[in-house]
Amino acid sequence: MKKNIAVIYGDGIGPEVTQVSVNLLNAIARRFGHEFKFSYGLMGADAIDKTGNPLPDETIEICLNSDAVLFGAIGHPKYDNDPSAKVRPEQGLLKLRKSLQLYANIRPVTTYPSLHHLSPLKTKNIEGVDFTIFRELTGGIYFGRKEVDSEYTLASDECVYSREEIERIAHLAFQHAQKRRKKLTLVDKANVLETSRLWRRIVKELEQHYNDVFAEYMYVDNAARQIIVNPRQFDVILTENMFGDIISDEASVIAGTLGLLPSASLGKGAALFEPIHGSYPQAAGKDIANPIGSVLSTALMLDYLGMAQEAALVREAVEWTLRNNFVTKDIDPVNFYFTSTIGELIGDYVGNKAPGEIHMANIELRKSTII
Ligand code: IPM
Ligand code: MG
Repeated sequence: MKKNIAVIYGDGIGPEVTQVSVNLLNAIARRFGHEFKFSYGLMGADAIDKTGNPLPDETIEICLNSDAVLFGAIGHPKYDNDPSAKVRPEQGLLKLRKSLQLYANIRPVTTYPSLHHLSPLKTKNIEGVDFTIFRELTGGIYFGRKEVDSEYTLASDECVYSREEIERIAHLAFQHAQKRRKKLTLVDKANVLETSRLWRRIVKELEQHYNDVFAEYMYVDNAARQIIVNPRQFDVILTENMFGDIISDEASVIAGTLGLLPSASLGKGAALFEPIHGSYPQAAGKDIANPIGSVLSTALMLDYLGMAQEAALVREAVEWTLRNNFVTKDIDPVNFYFTSTIGELIGDYVGNKAPGEIHMANIELRKSTII
């Protein structure tokens, strides 16, 4: 197969983790006889520095002409504590989501037995956890009218949802649940918010079309608690934009590190794949960031491109690295490997050069205890 992939490195650790995925896609192409053509675009603080614009039109153009977009991370500390900044890196990502109409953000939460000890939660509570969050991504309070008065005494953010916006992602979530354990939990705040009541009304209507799926309804405050005390109860969680943003970060503690979790954003045209972690500026350029979030996002991309066997091999490679303690500093602060080394190991595995041909002594040389 031939596929055009748009690559946006973005900020902080974005370039180094995304490079691992680009190399991995090249290894996949060699092994399976595919051709991936990469086009590179700017976004975020990097784009502001180079062009003054967090999302140049050229980047949107590149993405619209691609089969899929691979994205690193966004954000820079120099904007975080400056409420008066006129342009912000995050505006780039929000505009890209809107331009590509990426209305469904899909964030799977799974655990790896070798990493259970990293989670602050008890192992018995997280064993076997496997759920997916469907977060609405182009509506709600993120995109409603925003106002602030000139004296800075009053500000507002409007939260608006239309039937169409709710229905399209709800269908996707129900269909996904049908392929899994057939349970869907709508997370909302229907005891307070009108938009949540609309979500609940529409999801209840759709339930009739998906008889095989058990739908339940949970207020977001309770869901925040349930994700910690009994995360195994969830299969597919469906929720609006801001609740999804918050509970998906919360859910990442189950996996033990934010560094492992991937995401896919689907819409009407191209789809975008990115790790859920941020730009982690303190680690940028040090070759210590965990590339697995990006690698697993690449697996989601391969699934999306109809390459299920290739995606399965990537996941197998990830499991192999974790099982053998080939891990980055966030997982093992003492005996850790560099980002690029993990990338090479995964590339070797996918290229069928591991584990047999891997020379442990060489890997040891690439291991660091000091940075
Ligand atoms: C995410 C991020 C973004 C969001 C930021 C960077 C705008 O937190 O993808 O979860 O809030 O959607
Ligand atoms: Mg977030």
